[in-house]
Amino acid sequence: MRRLVAETTLEPRQLILPMFIREGAREPIAISSMPGVYQHTRDTARKAVAEAASLGLGGVMLFGVPSSKDEVGSGALDPDGILNVAIRDAVSEAGDDLLVMSDLCLDEFTSHGHCGVLDSAGRVDNDATLAVYAEMGLAHATAGAHVVGPSGMMDGQVGAIRTALDGAGFQDTVILAYAAKYASAFFGPFREAVDSSLKGDRKTYQQDPSNAREAIREVDLDLEEGADMVMVKPALPYLDIIRQVRDHVNVPVAAYNVSGEYAMVEAAAANGWIDRERAILETLTSIRRAGADTILTYWAAEAVSLLQRR
Ligand code: PBG
Repeated sequence: MRRLVAETTLEPRQLILPMFIREGAREPIAISSMPGVYQHTRDTARKAVAEAASLGLGGVMLFGVPSSKDEVGSGALDPDGILNVAIRDAVSEAGDDLLVMSDLCLDEFTSHGHCGVLDSAGRVDNDATLAVYAEMGLAHATAGAHVVGPSGMMDGQVGAIRTALDGAGFQDTVILAYAAKYASAFFGPFREAVDSSLKGDRKTYQQDPSNAREAIREVDLDLEEGADMVMVKPALPYLDIIRQVRDHVNVPVAAYNVSGEYAMVEAAAANGWIDRERAILETLTSIRRAGADTILTYWAAEAVSLLQRR
């Protein structure tokens, strides 16, 4: 009876697996704050993409971990930079069996760890960053990315990237806008995952957790600029925002079940304080119930086997 009348579905096609690929790595490197998640080598990344496709996942979201960084994040634009290489690898591995998505942001590539370039006073320079994002979008599209995910929360980023893509014949490249992204403590473990060098915080460009109306405004602006899908991030502390955004727009809504949400469940389970597998499915179901059409989650592959056993 419960199966017959369940209101919320959770299916492999709705899940997107975020993956980290580390330049020069010979062995996968464990991320201590995210047990079970690794910085991949190019080779193990290819295998993980093939596995994701065979499991029927909707997509993978790729993050590059470069071996060197600089002030302007040049590794992000280099066609042989780790993220562009990883995109090419993933596309050649999976073909059209799943969507290859790329994180379009500078923080992994800058020595200061900010999502944009800095002005002479050391502040993030919104408009100078837009020009770099436009180039980065072209690099990802040229590498074959089906979907680019601008996650830097610069004002005007979606419009700048859309114009650049259209101007170069990449009309079919989709933009998944990190539209409502909060300055969140729940990104903590991610900083280890990408060897972040950030000092300070991202409060001049990411949202204040106390604001909900502002999220709707950010979503509206991104849609006006040409976003095809919008994301709310993090997911669990912002289920109310997911619901409000879902009710407000007519495009697909994604939610990012972020590193800190993952780490909390893993840590509690490792202590025997929580039933890990039930907690995973309950977490993902709650995000779907709140209104997310798709979920980015580090549990994506495992969730498929949990769903099969259910
Ligand atoms: C920025 C980016 C971040 C995450 C995804 N993209 C970190 C940040 O904004 O500080 C966090 C993802 C997670 O915590 O799982 N490129």
